[in-house]
Amino acid sequence: MVERRLTSHTAPPLVRLALLGCGTVGEGVVRLLRRNAEMFQRKLGASIELAGVADRSLKPDPSLGLESRLITRDAASLVARPDIDIVVELFGGLEPARSLMLKALESGKDVVTANKALLAQKGDEIFRTAARYGRSVGFEASVGGGVPIMRTLREALAGDRQRAVYGIINGTCNTILSLMTDAGAEFAEALHQAQQSGLAEADPTLDIEGHDAAHKLCLLVALAFGVLLKPTKVYTEGISRVTLADINFARQLGYSIKLLAIAKDDGSAIEARVHPTMIPQRHPLAGVAGAFNAIYVQSEALGPTMYYGQGAGQLPTATAVLADVLEIARHRCAGSNTSAPALGYPATVVKPGRVKPMDDVLSEYYLRFMARDQPGVLGAIASVLGRNRISIASVIQQGRGLTGTVPVIMRTHEAAERDLKRALSSIGKLKMVEPSPTLIRIEEQL
Ligand code: HSE
Repeated sequence: MVERRLTSHTAPPLVRLALLGCGTVGEGVVRLLRRNAEMFQRKLGASIELAGVADRSLKPDPSLGLESRLITRDAASLVARPDIDIVVELFGGLEPARSLMLKALESGKDVVTANKALLAQKGDEIFRTAARYGRSVGFEASVGGGVPIMRTLREALAGDRQRAVYGIINGTCNTILSLMTDAGAEFAEALHQAQQSGLAEADPTLDIEGHDAAHKLCLLVALAFGVLLKPTKVYTEGISRVTLADINFARQLGYSIKLLAIAKDDGSAIEARVHPTMIPQRHPLAGVAGAFNAIYVQSEALGPTMYYGQGAGQLPTATAVLADVLEIARHRCAGSNTSAPALGYPATVVKPGRVKPMDDVLSEYYLRFMARDQPGVLGAIASVLGRNRISIASVIQQGRGLTGTVPVIMRTHEAAERDLKRALSSIGKLKMVEPSPTLIRIEEQL
């Protein structure tokens, strides 16, 4: 319900927002609403009004221009207000965000959110509800912060078929790996530095174990391939076992290590995985450092394109929220009661897709064995790999460890994960090799 003010014939219509959560990103939304009010008015021919803010601990803040009458702790009542057009959900987490979003959609409001965990886990319910009530769900801010990747996949690349998506979509992991690569820090030290600088959370598990990237990958898969995946279907491995030694060996081999979120569609199944990945140093993704994000898309007719920018932060992420608000406000001002499907495909055709089992995935591999420096070790390892149809592309063996073990590095040609696992299990039984070798997948052809 876009209101036309009755007091004046010349007064522009109003689009009213309810903001749920005024933390870092919410505050950015308020600041940009104030700073760009006139520009938004010119773009829309309507004013965007912040009609209420629900937050448990928010105080009126003169620098934000938030008056106390706007602030409430009662999010449910704010969402239920009939004068609200768009609910901007920035609470994060599953509840009460899910229930509030559903209530908003059911009562004819549109929703804008940055909540990737919720959309990845409950997106089917939320998108179906939006479709049933003819409402929109904008979620540009949920992946890549300020990088406009969702709208790009849904609109700009809509005329093409997407083949693969490779994302550096977790700034915490990318910062840690950059610190390890550029400053020679070990993982624990790099994590500590990232926490000190406020980039990494006090409890970094969701980020460093790859779950945040897996949530975001589910949304990229939905837009790129029209398939809804649950995060449990995404093979997920974080960066906490990456060592400085592996980063240095990768460099010798011409690779950088990145936490990549990878999705591919071969026409019969979807590959979806998040793990530390070696990529050629010359690839544009290898130059994405620190908290920056980038998404590299391979489209059938267009070929490769890459989208790069600030993957988090107050104002960058708020720009993505406001892009969704403006798009929805335009529809509302045009009096349109039907919205573009949130995923680019009608909710009825977006179905769970067949996910390729990890055992069937083909990759090249970096392997680091810690082995005794004695005759026959290389031969023994190579022979197990050969018996399992794994061909070695190159080997590095350094130093003479007169006592203890030395690293033996092998880079393989493309092999099936199933064969590799079987080979590693046999190699683990060799007396001259320590158990649990390091395995990092290589994407050579991206
Ligand atoms: N925790 C995320 C990251 C930012 O490190 O990229 C929010 O998506």
